[in-house]
Amino acid sequence: MNTELQRARALLAASGDPVVFTGAGVSAESGIPTFRDALTGLWAEYDPETLATEAGFRANPSLVWDWYASRRERIGQAEPNPAHRAIAAIEAARGRVTVVTQNVDGLHARAGSSDVVELHGSILRARCLAGCGPASGWEADLRSPPRCRHCEAPLRPDVVWFGEWLPHEAVAAAEAAAARCDLMLVVGTSAQVYPAAELPFRARRSGAEVIVINPEPTEIDAIASVVLRGRAGEILPALLP
Ligand code: OAD
Repeated sequence: MNTELQRARALLAASGDPVVFTGAGVSAESGIPTFRDALTGLWAEYDPETLATEAGFRANPSLVWDWYASRRERIGQAEPNPAHRAIAAIEAARGRVTVVTQNVDGLHARAGSSDVVELHGSILRARCLAGCGPASGWEADLRSPPRCRHCEAPLRPDVVWFGEWLPHEAVAAAEAAAARCDLMLVVGTSAQVYPAAELPFRARRSGAEVIVINPEPTEIDAIASVVLRGRAGEILPALLP
C-alpha cells in the first residue's frame, strides 16, 4: 500500500469526529454528469443563466423545469457508487459522520448516510416560486412546472441558482461541522464555488487535518495533510479498516 494512502488511513482511524465534504466528483462514477458536462448535447445551446437563474426560469418556466426533470430522471436511474457507500460505511462503523455536500442528487442518503447537509438544495424537492415554501405531492414527470397548492404560482426546483443565497440552516450546519471536526475529507470538488469552498479552510483554521481525494489538483491541496490523486470510488473504499 502506498505511503500517502497509509497516512490517510491512519488519520481516519485516529479521528474522533470526521466530516466529509463532497462535490460533483463523488457522483461521477454513478454516471451523473457534472453541471458543466450536463450542458452538452441537447442543452449545449443554453447557458447557465438560462437554466440556473430565477430570471431564466421566469422567462421560460417549461424549458427550465424540463431540463431539471431530465436530470432528475437520470439521477433516478443512477445508483450510489462505492464512494457513497464507503462514506456510509464510515458512519456505520462510528455512529456519526456529517456529510456536507454541494450535490443535489440525494445519492449520499440513498447510500445510507443519515446526517447529510445539502448546501445547494435537492433536485428531488420543489418549492413555490412565490415563497409559500416546500411543495409535496407534485408529479415528478410533468414537463412543465406544477402549480403551488396555496397560491397557484409555479413550483421551482429546490436548488440554489446563481445569484441566490445558500439555505441558511444548511450553511450554519456546515460551518458548525467544519469548526468542530478534527478531520475533513474533501472529495470530488474543484472548490471554486464560494461559500462552500471556504469550509476546508475553516476546518484547517480550527486545527483539523484535511485529506483531499481528487484526480486533479485543487485549491485545497495547499492546506491538505494528505492529497490522494485518483477516483473517489477507488480510494474511499481503500480507507476503510
Ligand atoms: P465541479 O464540476 O466544479 O468539480 C468536480 C471535481 O470532481 C473536479 O475537481 C474533478 O477533478 C473531480 N472529479 C471528477 N471525477 C472524479 C472522481 N471519479 N472522483 C473524485 N473526484 C472526481 O463540481 P463541484 O466542485 O461540485 O453549484 O462544483 C461546485 C458547484 O459548482 C456545484 O454545486 C454547482 C456548480 O456551479 C451550484 O449549482 C450552486
